[in-house]
Amino acid sequence: MAALLRFKSPVGRVLPSPPSPTPQNVTTVSNWTLIRRMLGLAWAYRWGCIKVLLLQICLLSFGLMGLGLFGLGVDTIRYHIDPTSKAPEYPLGLQPPADNPAFTVSAIAVSILVLALLRGWLTYVYTLASNYLVQAEIVVDLRAQVYSKLQRISFRFFDSNETGSIINRVTGDVQNVRLFVDGVILQTVVLILSLSVYLFYMLHIHVQLTIACLASTPFLGFLTWIYMGKVRPASLKTRELSDTLVRRLSENIQGIQVVKGFAREAEEIDKFAEANRHVREQQNWTFWLTSVFSPLISFIPQFNMVVLLCYGGYLLTRDPSFTLGQGIIVFAGLLRQFEAQVTNIATIANSAQQSLTGAQRVFEILDAPVDIKSKPDAVRLRRAEGALRFENVSFGYRAEEPVLQDIDFEVPAGSIIAITGATGAGKSTLLSLLPRFYDPDQGRVLLDGVDLRDMEVDDLRHSIGLVFQESFLFSNTVAANIAFGNPKATQEQIERAARIASAHDFIMELPEGYDTILGERGNGLSGGQRQRLAIARAILLDPPILLLDDPTAAIDPETEHEILEAMQSAMQNRTSFVVAHRLSTLRRADRVLVLEHGRIVESGTPDELARTSKLYRAAAKIQIPDEESMRLLGMDLEEVAA
Ligand SMILES: Nc1ncnc2c1ncn2[C@@H]1O[C@H](COP(=O)(O)OP(=O)(O)OP(=O)(O)O)[C@@H](O)[C@H]1O
Ligand SMILES: [Mg+2]
Repeated sequence: MAALLRFKSPVGRVLPSPPSPTPQNVTTVSNWTLIRRMLGLAWAYRWGCIKVLLLQICLLSFGLMGLGLFGLGVDTIRYHIDPTSKAPEYPLGLQPPADNPAFTVSAIAVSILVLALLRGWLTYVYTLASNYLVQAEIVVDLRAQVYSKLQRISFRFFDSNETGSIINRVTGDVQNVRLFVDGVILQTVVLILSLSVYLFYMLHIHVQLTIACLASTPFLGFLTWIYMGKVRPASLKTRELSDTLVRRLSENIQGIQVVKGFAREAEEIDKFAEANRHVREQQNWTFWLTSVFSPLISFIPQFNMVVLLCYGGYLLTRDPSFTLGQGIIVFAGLLRQFEAQVTNIATIANSAQQSLTGAQRVFEILDAPVDIKSKPDAVRLRRAEGALRFENVSFGYRAEEPVLQDIDFEVPAGSIIAITGATGAGKSTLLSLLPRFYDPDQGRVLLDGVDLRDMEVDDLRHSIGLVFQESFLFSNTVAANIAFGNPKATQEQIERAARIASAHDFIMELPEGYDTILGERGNGLSGGQRQRLAIARAILLDPPILLLDDPTAAIDPETEHEILEAMQSAMQNRTSFVVAHRLSTLRRADRVLVLEHGRIVESGTPDELARTSKLYRAAAKIQIPDEESMRLLGMDLEEVAA
């Protein structure tokens, strides 16, 4: 039987995989704008940055002093062996005893050791300070900023960006932005400072030697520039592909029932493997770029050492003022440090690219317009009466596709409005205009005679209780879920709301009653139980307006009956909008609106519509028990009607 039910796709036909998502809101923010923004960010942490920089400068000077002392030691020894060579120049005008070179060399050795110990300690302080600056301050602040912006951002942003991409921005991209502070700004300052000091020192030793050894540096710069140009697009692409990977993962976990139910595990594994492969290939390309450019870049220092050996050796034999220690050895040390800093340009450039990519994605969130917000002179609502009016409202998620058109009706306070219509007609969309999840493109919605756009958004939303088609519950206790809209609610208030929503009895049967912790998304509860908790959550606010979006859509008739009862008591004394298809619910409304393709095609009392509306009668007819079925069930029609 199972074999019969299993479909086989035609040989050779490959089902198309979903299109790879193109991120919406692709902004063309210039690099300069991004850099300016990130400089602004660094400015906010300037004291921490200055501290880290000062430590870096100390480290740099200690390193140089150690190197200078080493050269001095070598020259002291050499002078002792060959007194005809040039006498070493001691710093600070010191004149050590000429007859005891062992003492002088030991004193130099001890100084080098002390400097090394100091450097070790400073490195420790520096590492702590820089990690504190970036991880404990910048990243934490930035992550909090992005998260809090996400709470205020318009629904349109969530409509056009995927969950995986948004999560990646809060986690990964924020790290990339902080890289700009420690990996780019601080490193660049250190780079410029140290390059200048090294250069000055080298020129001080020998001008021509410096020119000869650094002649190849422009080539190093050129290579780095090419490398930068290639790595930036590659790293952007890698982030996009890893977004797709995260999307696949999260969809698979959320849809695991569908996957298993349709025995699609193998295909899902393949799809994930494919996404994984794309990320790997892209990363391989980036690694390849790095592995080609790194040896090229590191070849140049070797070449320079050869120049130093030849030209420096020549100078040593010809120029009596040029010494082995303070000349060649110190120069070699400086040259190595200089080139290390020059190759560091590539790392800094890479960090800059990475942080520009990250910044673009993070600032996209931070800059996303909050269309729905309170005006400065917004009207404060105490308690709304609940009289509503839609005035020629039109709305579409995308400009070219209107979803609602010319919606015009009025609802007196305290009445029940039922909305019915085919799937996709725009019922949920119509409800979503009331709490201002979206604003109408044309026309306006008025509550107690005031345009919703002129009201304080929080006040408006506190006046509205919402039960969605599918309710979302948080992984918290039952009580906390009911009290989500009002965390200060007392246990009595919570229980009262649960009783009105016919949820109290089943809650009491849960292992810990109201303190039972629900699984993620309310796992562990049936669909009907989840909806009743959602109704309790809406009722707890005691809102003057209640929106019930077809909460019985996915529920069996028995549970549906209970929910209808719960809804019935919840709607008492409030303006209620209920999206419904069942005659039993429609009949209880004061007025029914029939929606078709985003327009109200019929409206009236249930009785009027029962007489005049084809659509209404068609909907109703399906639910009137027919004689044949009743006979089969052994019931008679009068019994059902009663
Ligand atoms: N977030 C969205 N972005 C773009 N289009 C949307 C979005 N939500 C809904 N739509 C589209 O708007 C139209 C109306 O959707 P809506 O959810 O309001 O229908 P509905 O009447 O509530 O249907 P149902 O009875 O199935 O719940 C549909 O064509 C739908 O595809
Ligand atoms: Mg809907």
